[in-house]
Amino acid sequence: MNSLAVLHASQLVTLAGSKRPRVRSEMSELAIIHDGGMLVHDGIIVAIGSSAQIEKGARQSELVDAGGRVVLPGFVDAHAHPVFAGNRLDDFELRARGETYEQIAAAGGGIWSTVEKTRAASEAELFDQAKKHANWFLKCGTTTVEAKSGYGLTLEDELKMLRVIRRLNEETPIEFVPTFLGAHAIPRARRADEYVDLVINEMLPRVASEKLAEFCDVFCERGYFDIEQSRKILTAAKKSELKLRIHADQLTNSGGAKLAAELEATTADHLEKTDENGIAAMKASGVQPVLLPGSVYALGSTDYPRAREMIEAGLAVVIATDFNPGSSPSPSMPMMLSLACTQMKMRPAEAITASTINAACSLNRGDEIGSLEPGKLANFSIFDCEDYREIAYWFGFPQIHSVYVRGRPLLSRANET
Ligand code: NIG
Ligand code: FE
Repeated sequence: MNSLAVLHASQLVTLAGSKRPRVRSEMSELAIIHDGGMLVHDGIIVAIGSSAQIEKGARQSELVDAGGRVVLPGFVDAHAHPVFAGNRLDDFELRARGETYEQIAAAGGGIWSTVEKTRAASEAELFDQAKKHANWFLKCGTTTVEAKSGYGLTLEDELKMLRVIRRLNEETPIEFVPTFLGAHAIPRARRADEYVDLVINEMLPRVASEKLAEFCDVFCERGYFDIEQSRKILTAAKKSELKLRIHADQLTNSGGAKLAAELEATTADHLEKTDENGIAAMKASGVQPVLLPGSVYALGSTDYPRAREMIEAGLAVVIATDFNPGSSPSPSMPMMLSLACTQMKMRPAEAITASTINAACSLNRGDEIGSLEPGKLANFSIFDCEDYREIAYWFGFPQIHSVYVRGRPLLSRANET
């Protein structure tokens, strides 16, 4: 048996609590143990307690001295687009010159330009680039990442992306949760209705029969997929036993949050333009909002979603990076926590809950990851600070000391300091 004892965490942030997503004041309860410790057997947490208690049961164990630092569950990034070819540096520069995301897309940049590069790339090339992105996530303390397709937009190219995600899962330490996003944009030279039929009749059956995805997502937005087309695709996905996520109300309040509620989607994501009616609809059917402040920031907007209203309404809020080459080129969950606190007025503890246990629940993995409790995977990070609030407070530089997945050390800056 492989045994590991983590000792002397200034704060062992356990998030121990009820086995469901946390709401309202529960989001501020982190169940912190001061001078905490944790015993791990074969990658599974078997005991949590004070350092003194854990040390007693740790005679045969390899010792990890956290040295008075913060220990946190691995971040769970519940919305990301980590597989793509190239970058969008030209879009970035055009935005710096004052053009908007929609203007750039209309002029030939945007999602479509990444689709062209992704189609031209081989599966091996895509994998190599995505592996580099996987390492970036790890360096930020993230150990689980939801991963969407959506830059292929033909049957073969969407399958290629999903196979890359499957290989990432097999060959990197991060767990990737695959989502089929064939409805990310309408390909050039295709009629919208014709493409919707292709997604429903050809792509979805293959994705489902080859078990390449757990979730289906749609970009429900003006110029992409309208409410009726989104409803059609997501209803078909549900029949294929995929669970649902939806890019909703990002640029316009088009009723995406309400559609998520109607279809009992697991999550509705973005929600920058969602109003109180959308919030009430999500509450009524238990949809989790996934807020993506990185894309608001990187698009140079100040229109952040109404996180406080959502928390006060009792929604189990999630924070994610939306890592992608266009609207959010950042894999950093600490950066998202900073934005959540400074721009959306979330409390640091709420932001931690939103990026760990609530995110895990939104990926259907609330009983395996997202908190440090006996029976769960020993996925955790040690941060070079004494108070968990420092993770959101200092920004723009890495505070990670080391990262563990299933009790295995994967990244350590211990020798650098
Ligand atoms: O979540 N909104 C749609 N999809 C991505 C952007 C993708 C891209 O621009 O390449 C998002 O922001
Ligand atoms: Fe996205």
